[in-house]
Amino acid sequence: MHTLYYFSGTGNSMHVSLELAKRTKAEVKPMLKEKDFRLEGDVGLVFPIHMNSLPKPVETFIEKSDFSKVTYLYAVSTHCGIPGKPEHYLNDILMKKNRTLDDYHSVKMINNTPKGVAPKFLMRMNWEEDITKEKVEDMIRCTDVAIEEIAYRINNQSTDFKEERIRGNAKPSLMNKLLWKIKGSPKLEFKVDHSCLGCGLCEKVCLAQRIKVDKNPQWIKEECYYCYACFNFCPEQAISVKHYEKKNGRYHYPSITSEQIANQK
Ligand SMILES: Cc1cc2nc3c(=O)[nH]c(=O)nc-3n(C[C@H](O)[C@H](O)[C@H](O)COP(=O)(O)O)c2cc1C
Ligand code: SF4
Ligand code: SF4
Repeated sequence: MHTLYYFSGTGNSMHVSLELAKRTKAEVKPMLKEKDFRLEGDVGLVFPIHMNSLPKPVETFIEKSDFSKVTYLYAVSTHCGIPGKPEHYLNDILMKKNRTLDDYHSVKMINNTPKGVAPKFLMRMNWEEDITKEKVEDMIRCTDVAIEEIAYRINNQSTDFKEERIRGNAKPSLMNKLLWKIKGSPKLEFKVDHSCLGCGLCEKVCLAQRIKVDKNPQWIKEECYYCYACFNFCPEQAISVKHYEKKNGRYHYPSITSEQIANQK
């Protein structure tokens, strides 16, 4: 038995999950839909990096899960190039459940947060190069190669992370630890502009069920999963956040649809 549980706001992690599942004969399940947390056999956890760490729903999934019948446990993150060392944070919370991670893999993909949660002084950094067709095609090529390599390691039940940790070679930095501490603190305040059509797509994709659309979207509760699905799937780019208001593009993995994102709930 091999099950791959995933969480994905804009399709990067979903794409990686679906492709890995084909190559490793795993069943794919969204973390948010899971009702029975007694995990069994080989288990993979696939998710995006959020602020050098894990999205809240991934932590919740781990906290609720029973790992006593898991024979091989690996994680795969997708990120935009500055992942930090989330595998150590993940391993720390697994250790509270008497489990450790056997292996960890990561895939660099396109950023789905053009400056959304960063403080203003970081806005001067060039994080926000336009997401061009060439950039997306290049990412797809690199992701395909990474998926093949990761599938090979999963099929061979590699334990590189576990071994390096035991040897003491892989350690998080103080900066990583600091980011893990503050990660829950930023509040995401979205705004909508006059170009909203009232189509309801943002409500449909909102994984935290935080949005209700009457004529316009209202963010009706504080809890947000920071998935950026609302921001990125709006067909009018009518949703803006913090310092990012320009209508110069949004991103989701090209072949993953809003229906697939919404079906995680
Ligand atoms: C709230 C938030 C924080 C993020 N923080 C990081 C980060 O610290 N490092 C990084 O490399 N990418 C970061 N990203 C980028 C995503 O990890 C990346 O785009 C990911 O592939 C998105 O996956 P998804 O489409 O499955 O949601 C962040 C994205 C979001 C939404
Ligand atoms: S997806 Fe965009 S256009 Fe549709 S209701 Fe939401 S904000 Fe308005
Ligand atoms: S409000 Fe937006 S970012 Fe927050 S959970 Fe809903 S879709 Fe995701």
